Amino acid sequence: MTVEWIGGYQARAEWALDQRLPAAGLHPGALHRAMRYAVLGGGKRIRPVLVYLSGAAVGAMIEALDGPACAVEFIHAYSLIHDDLPAMDNDDLRHGQPTCHKAFGEALAILAGDALQALAFQILGQDAAMVADPAIRLRMLAVLTQAAGSRGMAGGQAIDLAAVGQMLTLAELEDMHIHKTGALIRASVLLGALSQPTVEPAVLERLDRYAKCIGLAFQIRDDILDVIGDAATLGKNTGADRALAKPTYPALLGLEGAREHARLLREEALASLQPLGPEAEPLRWIASYIVERVY
Ligand code: IPE
Ligand code: IPE
Ligand code: MG
Ligand code: MG
Ligand code: MG
Repeated sequence: MTVEWIGGYQARAEWALDQRLPAAGLHPGALHRAMRYAVLGGGKRIRPVLVYLSGAAVGAMIEALDGPACAVEFIHAYSLIHDDLPAMDNDDLRHGQPTCHKAFGEALAILAGDALQALAFQILGQDAAMVADPAIRLRMLAVLTQAAGSRGMAGGQAIDLAAVGQMLTLAELEDMHIHKTGALIRASVLLGALSQPTVEPAVLERLDRYAKCIGLAFQIRDDILDVIGDAATLGKNTGADRALAKPTYPALLGLEGAREHARLLREEALASLQPLGPEAEPLRWIASYIVERVY
């Protein structure tokens, strides 16, 4: 991501994540080192950036956004650790370095994922810089638990594993992507907006529609990059979906069909933001970034 203010939010996310992770020297050190390795080893921080941008679009204080930004990134990092395990995608490269289980062993990698998930919810419950209203904390917890659970990311991963070697319909593929990836992206946008206690329900509804579209588009682009991307740039192996016989958008629609589908979703996302003013401009920019990104 190149635009100046996106870089600023990425840097803020790095700082906020580092602060909220247990110190490497804290007992049990190996587990804490595995957690820090998986989170701080790289990543675009797109979900934290979406928390910051969505919050900024509705006038939330940046200090109130650090906790939700970290919470959603911790869930994401945990999902990647488990996604890379031999029982799932069996990948050995992530962020240009060995996957967590390659570096720390499978047992610690599983536990690092478990502990990151718990840390995410602990932050939403306790983070001192967040909006302190317990009703808002509870609402955020409901958003993130739903997005992470069996009706969200974990459910999507189950659908993904059951779909190996199958030819899905477009509707089934969409259902899988909406759950495994769309749910956390949607939660990111909602958590940002909920950090402004007076956010209007109509604005929340607009942002939610926007988020559904970019969440799906994000995974379509991920599928495309698995075909056309370059491992050195992506920091993960390419061709993995095909090797594992995963149903993907390029496999179903062809590369150009998949690209067109992502572009249509961007248009729908932009239309959803239409009533919002210039403060939503970064959200508009990121919708384009998502369908054009090269890593
Ligand atoms: C990769 O997500 C896995 C998907 C859900 C598509 P990202 O592309 O956001 O991963 P990082 O965090 O930037 O590495
Ligand atoms: C991962 O999808 C989705 C989640 C981790 C929830 P992929 O399996 O396509 O992600 P990559 O390509 O390994 O990053
Ligand atoms: Mg996977
Ligand atoms: Mg994978
Ligand atoms: Mg992928």
